[in-house]
Amino acid sequence: MAYRHFLSLMDLSKDELQQLIARAIELKTQKTIYEPLKNKVAGMVFEKSSTRTRVSFETAMAQCGGSAIFLSPRDTQLGRGESIEDMARVLSSMVDCIIVRTDAHDKIEKFAEYSVKPVINALTDLHHPCQLLADVQTYVEHRGSIQGKKVAWIGDGNNMCHSYMEAAHQFDFELVIAHPVGYEPDANLLNKFKDHVRLSHNPEQAVTDADLISTDVWASMGQEQEQTERAKIFAAYQVNNKLMSLAKSDALFMHCLPAHRGEEVTADIIDGNQSVVWNQAGNRLHSQKALLEFLLA
Ligand code: CP
Ligand code: NVA
Repeated sequence: MAYRHFLSLMDLSKDELQQLIARAIELKTQKTIYEPLKNKVAGMVFEKSSTRTRVSFETAMAQCGGSAIFLSPRDTQLGRGESIEDMARVLSSMVDCIIVRTDAHDKIEKFAEYSVKPVINALTDLHHPCQLLADVQTYVEHRGSIQGKKVAWIGDGNNMCHSYMEAAHQFDFELVIAHPVGYEPDANLLNKFKDHVRLSHNPEQAVTDADLISTDVWASMGQEQEQTERAKIFAAYQVNNKLMSLAKSDALFMHCLPAHRGEEVTADIIDGNQSVVWNQAGNRLHSQKALLEFLLA
């Protein structure tokens, strides 16, 4: 049987992504019991911490009639050195999809190579595509189509930034990335998506007339030892009132969370009336239901 993986936003066509967002918005209003994943089981291999991604996938599976098994490396043989190839073959012979959160992106690619069921990227060091489904859904709910809009990414050229670059191409918006020297996004991705993405070292310029401002922590998971150094380097890249006032008056603020108030964003912005972060977080559930339905049902 043919199956699809979702390792990055490029694994779906533009039309499929548009349909998925529309479906997520529709599923959010579903009031009656709807169980397209009855008896389906997701295996969740998480090598990094998670609140939103874990809970949204487990809840999505349960509400759609299926179930999920959370597998931390501490509890599986993966943590004792069993190979990814063997883990993928064995798990995929039992469960209906494998949801993976790990560090190196080539680890999830290996999972997908050896799995005979869909593999979903729940975050790697290179991408966080599930978060972008929720971000685009949230934008569409508040402002309509994101096509042709100006989005400013402020801060690190990290996994979230890379998924924004793919989203800019797939959903056809303009992305300006303001980042400190030495923290640029992946050069290959930049080259691939240069029609939609440009870099800047000037956050003020980047946010001017933006429709959406998005940011993320300055030190991602695995970079905890760089936290102090990064706090100094990124200080000029804080999303605060001054920066936000340069964007369009109806601009939205997003953050994938978890957030560090007083670092990448001030409390008055993330807790203010242009911020949609709670809807954005909640939409992880609905957009991932749509994704699971697309891949499994
Ligand atoms: N935004 C996000 O992926 O959050 P978690 O790390 O809590 O899953
Ligand atoms: N860039 C962050 C995203 C967390 C959801 C990290 O990788 O830790």
